[in-house]
Amino acid sequence: MTPPCRIEIQDLDFSVEGKQVLQSITLTLRDRRIGIVGRNGSGKSTLARLVAGLVAPTSGTVRVADKDLSRDRRAALHAVGILFQNPEHQIIFPTVGEEIAFGLEQQGRSKAEAKTGAADVLNRFELGHWMDAYINTLSQGQKHLVCLMAVVAMQPRLLVLDEPFAGLDIPTRAQLNRYLQVYEGSLLHISHDPSDLDGYDHLVWLDQGGVQLSGPQETVMAAYQEAMHNQGEANDLADLAG
Ligand SMILES: Nc1ncnc2c1ncn2[C@@H]1O[C@H](COP(=O)(O)OP(=O)(O)OP(=O)(O)O)[C@@H](O)[C@H]1O
Ligand SMILES: [Mg+2]
Repeated sequence: MTPPCRIEIQDLDFSVEGKQVLQSITLTLRDRRIGIVGRNGSGKSTLARLVAGLVAPTSGTVRVADKDLSRDRRAALHAVGILFQNPEHQIIFPTVGEEIAFGLEQQGRSKAEAKTGAADVLNRFELGHWMDAYINTLSQGQKHLVCLMAVVAMQPRLLVLDEPFAGLDIPTRAQLNRYLQVYEGSLLHISHDPSDLDGYDHLVWLDQGGVQLSGPQETVMAAYQEAMHNQGEANDLADLAG
């Protein structure tokens, strides 16, 4: 097994449209299974995009497997795959097979190899019959699954998952979970459901664009859940308006 993919974040600030979304984040992550939790709007998806190198920090650095992926897109194609929270942001092609094959072609495989690779991943999910299906005929959850299969087909060293189970039914979720458990690469998994992160090595709790706590999964999850429970009791959603 390859060693976990190291993520090194130093003094990271990120602003968009004059709004500071993340501030003063310094983290060294060197575990195979890392979870990210935090309230709506705390900056989780933004951090995921920065780790994947899709956007560059306003200041500070993000390095994954010792590379600045926002500057080195070629390295990024093998190092990291990201599943967006919204599948509509990811899909480019009309059919499932083309969508999955595209990433493999981007990695330098021939058209024929990419097609075989797409068929392999569909078969692994027992969905071989989806190869020529039109994506616009699929449900939201099914589209989400297509995006997930497209990133796992590329076998990145680090898989960044932004709420991968949203909209999936229980059997599909269970199947995906089984698959993720045996995924050889590293996972950075954003979730609102604590049970998704059971057995993970490390957890990062983001709050209002900063790191509230980062450490062993059990410790951080217990503190996070207690805080969420207390905030829920207060029944105040004013924070969401910020
Ligand atoms: N492109 C953008 N333009 C303006 N504001 C943005 C942009 N991207 C993110 N933000 C703001 O940054 C904050 C964090 O957003 P982000 O999507 O990272 O949160 P999140 O933790 O993923 O939330 P959720 O749990 O709802 O998915 C939000 O207040 C959001 O409005
Ligand atoms: Mg999000």
